[in-house]
Amino acid sequence: MRLNPLLTQLSTYPTVALDEKKRQVRATGRTLYDFGVGDPIEPTPPHIREAMLAAIPEVSQYPTVQGPRALREAIAAYMARRFGVTLDPATQILPTSGSKEAVFHLPLAFIDPAAPDRTVVFPDPGYPAYSRGALFAGAETHCQRLEGDFLQRPWEIPEDVLRRTRMLWINSPHNPTGAVMSLAHLAQIHALCRRHDILLVADECYADVYDDAPPPSLLQVSDEGVLVIHSCSKRSGMTGYRSGFVAGDPRAVAAYRTLRVNPGVAPTDMTNAAAAAAWADDAHADARRALLRRKKAVFLDLFQELGLELVGSEATFYLWVRAPEGHDEQSYALALLEHGIVVSPGTFFGVSDAGAGYVRVAMVPPLEACREAAAIWRTVHREVT
Ligand SMILES: Cc1ncc(COP(=O)(O)O)c(C=O)c1O
Repeated sequence: MRLNPLLTQLSTYPTVALDEKKRQVRATGRTLYDFGVGDPIEPTPPHIREAMLAAIPEVSQYPTVQGPRALREAIAAYMARRFGVTLDPATQILPTSGSKEAVFHLPLAFIDPAAPDRTVVFPDPGYPAYSRGALFAGAETHCQRLEGDFLQRPWEIPEDVLRRTRMLWINSPHNPTGAVMSLAHLAQIHALCRRHDILLVADECYADVYDDAPPPSLLQVSDEGVLVIHSCSKRSGMTGYRSGFVAGDPRAVAAYRTLRVNPGVAPTDMTNAAAAAAWADDAHADARRALLRRKKAVFLDLFQELGLELVGSEATFYLWVRAPEGHDEQSYALALLEHGIVVSPGTFFGVSDAGAGYVRVAMVPPLEACREAAAIWRTVHREVT
């Protein structure tokens, strides 16, 4: 059988590799403290679950691509409350089946696979779906390597690459590092993209998961040539619902709506009802943020005591930690894993080896388990350094 060669060329999805290693350690009977995969375990708030149940209809028909007006109004109201931006629910918002699906499908609407200028730029390390969606859409890809403070500075991309670029991904707050771009930084990227006629797409799915200062949205700069992506997954504990949205420039939203008529990936109306309840409420997101901050505090204290260096980490529920002297990301992660603590080696998130020397710690286990794991971590660290 002939296959799309991309299926075999793309390496195993990073979480699959992590799962295999975890299985081996679990087989030894050890308790696993899983700070690897970024899938939170806090319950979905009851009013969101009830909204979904109440929306199960007697007769179920196809959902529309644009989704119910009530959901788009709830999203517009959220964007106004949270970022002070005004969006037209009729022309500037589209619900999606989570943000991953949107990340994957977007290049299909904006990339001409036959054109010489079909490059898609994305951060490296970064969320793997940026490159995968671009490749399946027939784009050329350019990964922008992040270092130091791990903030993406697209003005450092070579001029000839920028001339061929049609789409540029940014991700703030950033997975895996938790680094946040300021409004001035976003404005500088936007100005660059306008000069080169590049569609600027900001993945803002961690916008409500932060420590102190609420991260800004690119839409506070402008909606011209801009799309932003948001998600119920991390804000509301809804990874299993598959619900997010794309918003921004009405011309880009219209093009994306045209594309989305084709694959049949519109969220169900039950999901849309749950999402409307989620976007209409901030209290549950505030409570989740407070809990995640308490989990982070456990590790911030530990890392300070052990002299481990953190970069970024001011938002998301990830901590981006430099492996200690004498270790790389693999050897440090392996030492922890042998004692039941699962963290992700930074190279899991890179197309290149960007992320080398760091591990990502996702605040997934319950608070008490975080405290237990921190005690084990302290012992392991002292043994191996
Ligand atoms: C940066 C980033 N974007 C998008 C996603 C996809 O999230 P979802 O599809 O659950 O909205 C994730 C998930 O971890 C992520 O880290």
